[in-house]
Amino acid sequence: MANRFPDGFLWGGATAANQCEGGYDADGRGPSIIDLVPWGPDRAAVSRGLLDPRTLPAGQYYPSHEAIDFYHHWKEDIALFAEMGFKCYRFSISWTRLFPTGEEAEPNPAGLAFYDKVVDELRKYDIEPLITICHFELPVHLLNQYGGWRSRKTIDAFVRYAEVLFRHFKGRVKYWITFNEINMLMHLPFGGAGVCFGPGEDPDRVKYQVAHHELVASARAVKLGHAIDPEARIGCMLAGGTYYPWSCDPEDVLAAIQQDHVNYFFSDVQVRGRYAPYALKKMERLGVTPRMEPGDLETLAAGTVDFVSFSYYSSRCTAADLSRTGAAVTTNAATTLRNPHLQSSEWGWQIDPTGLRIVLNNLYDRYQKPLFIVENGLGARDTLEPDGTVQDDYRIDYLRRHIQAMEKAVNEDGVELLGYTSWGCIDLVSASTGEMSKRYGFIYVDMDDAGRGTKRRIPKKSFYWYKQVIATNGADLGEA
Ligand code: BG6
Repeated sequence: MANRFPDGFLWGGATAANQCEGGYDADGRGPSIIDLVPWGPDRAAVSRGLLDPRTLPAGQYYPSHEAIDFYHHWKEDIALFAEMGFKCYRFSISWTRLFPTGEEAEPNPAGLAFYDKVVDELRKYDIEPLITICHFELPVHLLNQYGGWRSRKTIDAFVRYAEVLFRHFKGRVKYWITFNEINMLMHLPFGGAGVCFGPGEDPDRVKYQVAHHELVASARAVKLGHAIDPEARIGCMLAGGTYYPWSCDPEDVLAAIQQDHVNYFFSDVQVRGRYAPYALKKMERLGVTPRMEPGDLETLAAGTVDFVSFSYYSSRCTAADLSRTGAAVTTNAATTLRNPHLQSSEWGWQIDPTGLRIVLNNLYDRYQKPLFIVENGLGARDTLEPDGTVQDDYRIDYLRRHIQAMEKAVNEDGVELLGYTSWGCIDLVSASTGEMSKRYGFIYVDMDDAGRGTKRRIPKKSFYWYKQVIATNGADLGEA
């Protein structure tokens, strides 16, 4: 049977400014926290808020500074996306390109001009832009001055930044996401919220406070976005992946539900407009209920989202008593037990297409809001062959099986799905490791982990495969 997707289904790809743009100090851009995160052994500790990157010795390599230099290759890259037939391109705005310190009264005109060019070029090819307002970014000035998201000053700075975007791109950009993987701040507090823990600080107390601030900021931005442009569709975004119980022992099943609650903590607020009862009880139990100001709860209630977007790379697995089970592994910053039924990628992320169907069902059952898969893909080492090709059949196989699962969720389970933008449609810097060799793209970029290379763009075998998938609206997945 042919695979079927709704008319207007938004096929495409996704990137983030800090992983592809480079040009970190070009045309008045200010420093962003990601520019402080080095490649190498310190990266994980910095991302987890355990090592303040401002204390690191000079001379480190910072992959975001040049990345794949999309800042100067945007035209050529968008032409390649158009050649694949993209209907949608998800990208993020670099906050400090517009507001170098986060506190300027007016945005930097050169920053806006860059994104004008990008958006207009996409429109030229009938590619729908999907903009992430904040993808692991925060002006360093706000970190130095106020401790970043610890302070309500950052809420105001974010809302002002979002307001400028909604006004400027009104009528040209319909789809928006406030924060990328907002739940990631529980695992990577520096990457997600610019948090460096001080000595003796209770990490949970800090995390739930900054979480509240980001939720208030998101809700204020959604409300403002709707007021500025009633056509705008504004979504939340979570790092998705259901927790499976290790066994049918009821205690394991309960443990899995509790881990899922950690995942849903943010989207429950962003969709329903209030903290879930389990969340209130947990914060109370831990003694970390955030300080709230009068009006915060009303703000959360008034700023609910139009759609739910998520990334999906893998399912997860947990147990009540972890000492009785196999070794734990890390997938997209989440700790999970190794599921013996699944294969793993070269980076140990377990591959589970049915897990995507499960997430789609869970989220749709929970929220009854349109869903959007805005990240999915396989990080793998590619070989550029002597004849200039990249034969990435493993990537095609991964994507095909996930698209098949998504098709079942749509047609057999009735999930309302707006689109699918696979992650890193052009090779870019890995968020977790800072490597270039962890490649997701349909387009190979000639560059190594230390930033050496020509940055030449080369379509891989998967480029032509995805082009055919899009041309047939998912009917031809090129089954072997
Ligand atoms: C998500 C992020 O966590 O996963 C992306 O939104 C990231 O920024 C992607 O790149 C894949 O993770 P990694 O660590 O393989 O780059």
